[in-house]
Amino acid sequence: MTSPDLLSGCSILIDGTWIKSSNTYERFDPSNLSRSTGKFSLAQSEHVTLAYEKAAVAQRKWSGLTAINRAEVLRKIADLLEAESEEAAKRLTLDMGKAIRDARGEVLRSVAILRYYSGELTQPSGETYPSADPSTFLMTLEEPLGVVCVITPWNFPFAIPVWKLAPSIAFGNTVVWKPADAATGSAVFLANLFTRAGLPPGVLNLITGKGSTLSASLTGNEYLSAISFTGSSAVGNQIRHAVADRNVKVQLELGGKNPAIVLTDADLDDAATQIIRGAMLSTGQRCTATSRVYIERGVFAEFTELLKLKNESLTVGDPFDEKTDVGPLGSVEQRTNVFRYIEIAISEKVKFITSVPLTTNDCFIAPTIITDVDSQSVLVKEEIFGPILILQEVENLSQAIDAANDTEFGLSSSLFTKDIASAMTFIKNTKSGIVHINRETAGVEPHVPFGGIKGSSNMHREQGKAARGFFTTTKTVYIRSNQNKAR
Ligand code: UN1
Repeated sequence: MTSPDLLSGCSILIDGTWIKSSNTYERFDPSNLSRSTGKFSLAQSEHVTLAYEKAAVAQRKWSGLTAINRAEVLRKIADLLEAESEEAAKRLTLDMGKAIRDARGEVLRSVAILRYYSGELTQPSGETYPSADPSTFLMTLEEPLGVVCVITPWNFPFAIPVWKLAPSIAFGNTVVWKPADAATGSAVFLANLFTRAGLPPGVLNLITGKGSTLSASLTGNEYLSAISFTGSSAVGNQIRHAVADRNVKVQLELGGKNPAIVLTDADLDDAATQIIRGAMLSTGQRCTATSRVYIERGVFAEFTELLKLKNESLTVGDPFDEKTDVGPLGSVEQRTNVFRYIEIAISEKVKFITSVPLTTNDCFIAPTIITDVDSQSVLVKEEIFGPILILQEVENLSQAIDAANDTEFGLSSSLFTKDIASAMTFIKNTKSGIVHINRETAGVEPHVPFGGIKGSSNMHREQGKAARGFFTTTKTVYIRSNQNKAR
């Protein structure tokens, strides 16, 4: 077929053709579970094998184009996504319930990422070096890796795929893409848009279905050169182990448990606005979401009250409503996960600053603030991936930094202060890949490195120049001429 069809479940794209598997699955709008978001093919391992074969063939031709040619294709994809951004945002909201204003922001961010990589392709590639031998010219070339497997989560159905797909194809690789099943509708929309914008067949191949049944064929294929994955630590570690004894480059973006510290000298009103945004927007479903706040003793009561007020001003509800700030959790599975933590909070007798949230027939949850939580509780240790914010009183910055760092994760962290010395101390001592001063922990710009330390990644960074480094390999070239001998 030349186009996908989500009524019949035709959602697999291989070598420019949309195909259907004999088995399908259906997904439902998390804000209204009686509304289907589409039927999708449950791909089998044969589909994965075929996708790799076609991607390997397409890669020879695609990498033979000039960087300027590929930049032009990326520019066309960006322009088409911008032109269809409203439809894209609605598709995204339907799939996983992100509030429509945030969904629009995510789609436009994806356009910016595509434009960035289109521009990046006009930047210098490789380097020249002096050689010890006067007859030798010494340089490096950047070359593509081959076929890249891209595995993406459901919480950013457009932005995360685009920040992996755009650099993969920009630098001459081809892709086998497996999106999370809860975001498959958006993935089909995006893959179709890439194709319609002129991406040649086989450069991007989409495999839909269950990661659990496809993981062996995705990670075991002989054409696989690199994997870029964002998702849970458990799956990330399975991937790492699956390819450990082969020459496959792996980039893992895993969880977060991001802290914010508020000092007595901070602009408290602004800090509360930032922290509530960081914790509650996207219904807390971001690996960069703020989940723990350490507040200096002198302002604990006042700041807690401010957080409560800002939280109450959020509009929770229909994600398609322009006024909504917080939509539902992304799926029924997510609702089960997050409400398990609410039950733990109740059983551990923590103090609810906001009222205790109740389960609904759909996937809604009231953004929740709690305190008096034991520092060893799973609530403090595990990534909840929902709108639950934990407050704790601390004596000073030093105690706050120790508590903030006491986690297996290390993605993003924030400090709120007006004091430059405190800011410098924090920047130096916080154990995270991204540091914010007077800003929420979430939010990412496309031209700078993104990624964490400790359990939050395998140390590879995404985006910006870091993506150029990951998605290419270096060839060092020594060219000797015998011109000196001839003279
Ligand atoms: C953001 O903070 O806007 O899965 C992006 C995630 C991260 C991306 C966060 N990889 O939530």
